[in-house]
Amino acid sequence: MMKEASLLLVALFVCGFLIPQSDAVPLNVHVVAHTHDDVGWLKTPDEYYYGANESIQDAGVQYILDTVIVALQQNPSRKFIYVEIAFFFRWWREQDEATRQIVKKLVASGQLEFINGGWTMHDEACVHFEDMVDQMTLGHQFLFQTFGVVPKVGWQIDPFGHSATNAIVDNLAGFEALFFARMDYQDLQIREQQKAVEMMWQPSESLPDIHLLTGMLTNGYCDPGGFMFEYGDDPIMDDPLLENFNLYQKAEDLVKIVKAQASFLRHNDVLVSWGCDFMYQNAHLMFKNIEKLMTYINSNSTYNVTLFYSTPSIYAEAIFAEHTVLPMKYGDFMPYADGPHSYWSGYFTSRATLKGFVRFSSALLHATTSLLSSSQISSPAIDATLVLVQQPNGVTTHHDAVTGTEQFHVADDYAKNLNIANTNAYTLLSEVYGTILNGKTAPIFYFCPLLNETLCPATTILPSSVVPIVVYNPLAWDRTETIRLPIPVATVSVTNSAGKQVPAQVNQGNGRIELIFTATVPPLGFTTYFLESSATTPTSTEVAPSWEPLAPFVLGNEHISVQFDAHGNIQSVADKVSGASLPLQQQYYYYISSIGPNNTQSSGAYIFRPDPETPVNYELNVPNVTVVNGSLVSEVIRYFQNDLTQVIRIYNNQWHIEIEDVIGPINISDGNGKEVITRYTTNLNTAGLWYSDSNGIELIQRTRNARADWNYTVTEPVAGNYVPVDTFTYIKDVNEDWQVTVLVDRSRSSASLADGQIETMLHRRCLKDDGRGVGEPLNDSKVLATTEWLVVSNSSSSASLFRPLAKRLYHPLQLAFSQTSSVSNWRAQYKTDYSPLSAALPPNVQLLDFVPLPSGNYILRLHHIYQVGEDSVLSQPVTVDISTILAGYKIVSVQETQLTAVAPVKRKDAINWSGPSAAQAIPVLLAPTEIRTFVVVFAANVAPKLSPISII
Ligand SMILES: *[C@@H]1O[C@H](CO)[C@@H](O)[C@H](O)[C@H]1NC(C)=O
Ligand SMILES: *[C@@H]1O[C@H](CO)[C@@H](O)[C@H](O)[C@H]1NC(C)=O
Ligand SMILES: *[C@@H]1O[C@H](CO)[C@@H](O)[C@H](O)[C@H]1NC(C)=O
Ligand SMILES: *[C@@H]1O[C@H](CO)[C@@H](O)[C@H](O)[C@H]1NC(C)=O
Ligand SMILES: *[C@@H]1O[C@H](CO)[C@@H](O)[C@H](O)[C@H]1NC(C)=O
Repeated sequence: MMKEASLLLVALFVCGFLIPQSDAVPLNVHVVAHTHDDVGWLKTPDEYYYGANESIQDAGVQYILDTVIVALQQNPSRKFIYVEIAFFFRWWREQDEATRQIVKKLVASGQLEFINGGWTMHDEACVHFEDMVDQMTLGHQFLFQTFGVVPKVGWQIDPFGHSATNAIVDNLAGFEALFFARMDYQDLQIREQQKAVEMMWQPSESLPDIHLLTGMLTNGYCDPGGFMFEYGDDPIMDDPLLENFNLYQKAEDLVKIVKAQASFLRHNDVLVSWGCDFMYQNAHLMFKNIEKLMTYINSNSTYNVTLFYSTPSIYAEAIFAEHTVLPMKYGDFMPYADGPHSYWSGYFTSRATLKGFVRFSSALLHATTSLLSSSQISSPAIDATLVLVQQPNGVTTHHDAVTGTEQFHVADDYAKNLNIANTNAYTLLSEVYGTILNGKTAPIFYFCPLLNETLCPATTILPSSVVPIVVYNPLAWDRTETIRLPIPVATVSVTNSAGKQVPAQVNQGNGRIELIFTATVPPLGFTTYFLESSATTPTSTEVAPSWEPLAPFVLGNEHISVQFDAHGNIQSVADKVSGASLPLQQQYYYYISSIGPNNTQSSGAYIFRPDPETPVNYELNVPNVTVVNGSLVSEVIRYFQNDLTQVIRIYNNQWHIEIEDVIGPINISDGNGKEVITRYTTNLNTAGLWYSDSNGIELIQRTRNARADWNYTVTEPVAGNYVPVDTFTYIKDVNEDWQVTVLVDRSRSSASLADGQIETMLHRRCLKDDGRGVGEPLNDSKVLATTEWLVVSNSSSSASLFRPLAKRLYHPLQLAFSQTSSVSNWRAQYKTDYSPLSAALPPNVQLLDFVPLPSGNYILRLHHIYQVGEDSVLSQPVTVDISTILAGYKIVSVQETQLTAVAPVKRKDAINWSGPSAAQAIPVLLAPTEIRTFVVVFAANVAPKLSPISII
């Protein structure tokens, strides 16, 4: 009887969310049955899916989905949410048609709801927004094609701190709310007192119309507490004749917990998440026990609460229906701390080599999709191969992947799968190049993914062969940039696609010969350069002189001039035009990782805790220094010790100073874990402020030892000031027109611990586990080669320098090598230049994505790369005419969608163009920071087949 009554009640709620509002009604308890399925952590994604390696963790995702589907059919009042499409996708592929029909019905009826719906639940500190968008698109496209549904709610319950950019992304995807379960313990305590754990988040300064209902699950994301039946908590024993009867006590406990949680809220509804990591492998057990409690509690009016199955989207509707007035939230929720000595600012840098590989692979994926799209070369084989590039990239956005908070064997598994993805990307690039080159037979291409370690076997054939290099520019702007390659002989000339020799520089030393030349490449296009060896040094090639300095020296170009002391330490950087000079020093230090005295908190994969607070100089020796001074690039090579080498480079015609750090294996022979930083020191008056980017979009102002939202108590003066950096971080003088910007080649972290100073953390090796679940110390013995670009300039023009530089650093020129008998032979046989766009995009607009869809259509995303007020000219709104950019294409239609290209966008000026093939303007207005997404349909396609490649 009771069950039927509660069913009726639930039915009422579902149809139109008729949640009663009068004072007389009991508290509405939205029971959200869910499972949190990490796409890798203690086990690899494969192990989790199949339930292998159970001694590490009892977790098999296939069983969860199997049993949930059965349990949902047994009782139509049951609801369940599912989140991680990387897993669901696998399971779906294995189901027969009958099961698929059942699942479709469950989705249609709302019993099974997908929320978040990305490939993974992405991390929010280490993931660049370009990767967030890609992985969400991957999941949403699958859900839309399979079920015709679009997720409505963000569910970031486990990521360790929350970014403003994620809130922007969720809003642009069309989500009406976002829920998470981790917040700084000080912030949370105050918000609970003020009933401010739910809020309206306005995450963007530039896009003030973006508001996102955001809720913190104050009880965490698992069960209410004591009700994880599947993991050994007592079942509900409800026969009063039996000795262990516990129903009343369990009901009391639950009601108490739920009411406490509701006391932090401003309305009559409360969301109770009921599930945890990999729970519901036995869904029957969970639902059965939950329902015993529900039935009893709902039947006893003394409790004055009504429990019913719900989902976060139904809960969000209830909040809207109650017209709850919520406090505003600006900025972000970084860094996260769960105790006075437990700042989760370590994972911003943990496993720096994996973080770099993620960025490298993402750039390769973007280059591949843009080239496939602009060439419109497609076939079923190409589509199938592209998926094999997209999926592993999606997986590494997971909050235990790129974060470095997984076990070692899992980190290796991610790297292995990215490597397979990259091989597939090279297959596609090779195929497309071959087709565009349009020769009788396609050449074989070689790729050199280990150029970061100065390895490129493709050039070793130089003495006997000419090496053509196809240079692709994945950005939709013209680009002139230096290319550096190891070569086997020093007497090499470089010829461009017109057959003209171009200036080249050869650097020699330490048994290495490196060739440097400048490539000029059209937007989203490629050109070809040729390397050829000769008996003597050609006149176009300069062998750069090198020496060991005995006195201070100066290196520079047309923009900057850098003063060094005799040991190669930077002393100052001058702006050549104004003549103004800024004293600046750079040094390496390390913090000793706490092993947990006093408070038992040690530094580890998640948490950064230095002990003591003062770092130690990492430069053990005065370095031996070599200076190479060439007309294309000058460099200072500084060898400090076995685990530290630095190269400082100043390029012809560039504003930035490149600093390459080669660090590791970090020496632990003294028994200490170490966390290596680079620190830039100036005399700027920065008034406690510095700036760090939020996942590559907007910058957030940070204040030392302070938080924007509350009166902050400092407990960890170093770790508590460390914030995530994905692309750039800077300090600027509050009075004078100076700014020092540091661009990073992968996600890490920064802090300004004294005025005029900024440091970033490069590499970590810790010797104790930090007690947050991974169960292994972050004993990372890898050698890291990482790059920072330092821009010293006046603050008013800084953005115009660092914004485009950040895109160049993220999306390097992509090189494909081949082999031919002579330059003229290749030029006679193949097309050497490819320039698909009729015009470059304006300097403030990035072609964020140009991606083929299986339907044969394309996603086109445009992004205004400046934020409001950053640059007097470039921060202005800008109009791009798609028909002009794509003038060479027959466009059938252009439809604007929400971010993940599955549903029309809700905006008045949405583009919905279908027209004659004759040129007709398709103007798109972009405000600062804005991202707009379109599905473009073109008239025709060509379909080639795949050919072999070689990765060396
Ligand atoms: C029942 O709970 C509601 C809030 O959910 C409250 O307004 C009402 O006063 C309660 N009634 C009783 C009898 O405690
Ligand atoms: C209802 O709950 C109250 C409080 O726990 C309890 O005293 C009472 O016996 C319960 N009534 C029934 C009918 O179970
Ligand atoms: C631990 O306590 C000692 C003695 O009070 C102090 O010197 C040290 O700085 C503390 N370490 C941390 C990490 O707080
Ligand atoms: C610097 O010194 C080390 C050993 O002290 C040596 O191995 C290395 O080759 C030297 N490097 C340069 C650039 O001279
Ligand atoms: C170079 O890049 C590869 C992946 O492309 C990575 O595995 C390796 O660790 C990198 N090397 C260094 C020294 O960072």
